[in-house]
Amino acid sequence: MENVCQIGTNAAAFDKWDQMLRERLTQQRYWHCIGTMQTAVAIAEGNGLNTTSAAAAGLLHDCERCAPTDVLLRKIQANGVELPEDEAELPYVYHTYCGAWTAEHEFGLHDPDALAAIRTHSTGGANLSPLQQSVFIADLVEPTRPYAQEETIQEIRRTACRDLRLATPMALRYKARLSEIKSGGALNPRTREMVEAYL
Ligand SMILES: [Fe+2]
Ligand SMILES: [Fe+2]
Repeated sequence: MENVCQIGTNAAAFDKWDQMLRERLTQQRYWHCIGTMQTAVAIAEGNGLNTTSAAAAGLLHDCERCAPTDVLLRKIQANGVELPEDEAELPYVYHTYCGAWTAEHEFGLHDPDALAAIRTHSTGGANLSPLQQSVFIADLVEPTRPYAQEETIQEIRRTACRDLRLATPMALRYKARLSEIKSGGALNPRTREMVEAYL
């Protein structure tokens, strides 16, 4: 696919980021990022949000997803990246906290809302901005996900593109069920806070 990242006046930055991601990610993960970017933009458009922020956060959200756990941990420690104590033993979240740092310091993304959306894309959290909610949902429902054709997912995607406030609890219910299946019943602390705030 050509020119997938040419958005508005930031075409040059997006082209550079696209190239950097191709070098860092597996092909499957790269296309997941493209799918998340396109879905986040569609949600942003439908809800009057900043589409450039949505595109940046969607594209870069998994920029550290293919880095080994020990590399991520070293990077977190060396740069003083914020990692909540109750998530310190949960390696699957390292790429979210480290990813926000890398997006800012290596990709040059200086958009606090987009960086926050990268940080919360997987676990969610309480008090998410509309952009954070958009990226949380986009990561879950983008079209390259193996379950993307499920009716529930399609319903979440359709709803998100017209009413984010309705879609966030729907996506959260799906995510919580998925996380519980994956981790045998234990919800991530930030996801638990999100459940308390939104359901
Ligand atoms: Fe992720
Ligand atoms: Fe992702």
